[in-house]
Amino acid sequence: MNRKYRKTVIAGNWKMNKTPSETKEFMNAFKSIMPKGRWCDVALCVPAVCIPVAVRTMRETRVGIGAENVNANPSGAYTGEIAANMLVDAGCKYVIIGHSERRAMGETDADVNAKVLAALEAGLIPIMCCGETLEQREAGITAEWIAMQIKSGLQGVSEEKIRKVIIAYEPIWAIGTGKTATPEQAEQVCEGIRTVVRKLYSSKNARAISILYGGSMNEKNAYELLAQPDIDGGLIGGASLVPEKFVKIIEAANQPTL
Ligand code: 13P
Repeated sequence: MNRKYRKTVIAGNWKMNKTPSETKEFMNAFKSIMPKGRWCDVALCVPAVCIPVAVRTMRETRVGIGAENVNANPSGAYTGEIAANMLVDAGCKYVIIGHSERRAMGETDADVNAKVLAALEAGLIPIMCCGETLEQREAGITAEWIAMQIKSGLQGVSEEKIRKVIIAYEPIWAIGTGKTATPEQAEQVCEGIRTVVRKLYSSKNARAISILYGGSMNEKNAYELLAQPDIDGGLIGGASLVPEKFVKIIEAANQPTL
């Protein structure tokens, strides 16, 4: 990370876990052990039905609540979908876009791009995900693949808006597998992402955007990942479901030695 130029962000992605009642329980427990004082930005992206209780419970805190998906259209006949302005009105600050689990359900780069634009338009902070499969890594095409995902995802995002975007690098082979990318592997890709952003936007903006790592990040490996210059935080799945573990990751991000 580099606190001088950009925000450190520790974000949880709950995926399809926890009911509204369990969300309330988690938030109360989390609130009681949350680090006080100087700390990084903290986000919790939760299932849509858990958003109201999460927002209500965390109202007096600095924790931002987020959604895990958004529809790119402003309104209309899209049964079961949720528009960006609805998320804003419900109290969301963030939205995860293009997670590999959603891409596996058919979300395309064009969809991801349209969702990023819709989120920005509504005033949400998109956490745009990218990542390669194990086959792609082994074939040596990780850098090209990620560059393509970033370029298509950011199409039409203006120089003024790019600073609002958070990018999350999540190697698919590291998600939920307990197999974390090494700090060097993760840094290499995150640095590559910043280079792609620098080619598309000003150096100043490329230096200012937060790039997160995700994929089996936990309370044990967070510090060394966050010690890398281009890793500005984490997008955490499993470990964000347990208040004590999530707090430990926040504490790792708050270490003055970083
Ligand atoms: P895990 O931390 O459970 O590997 O999940 C990572 C992830 O997909 C976060 O979006």
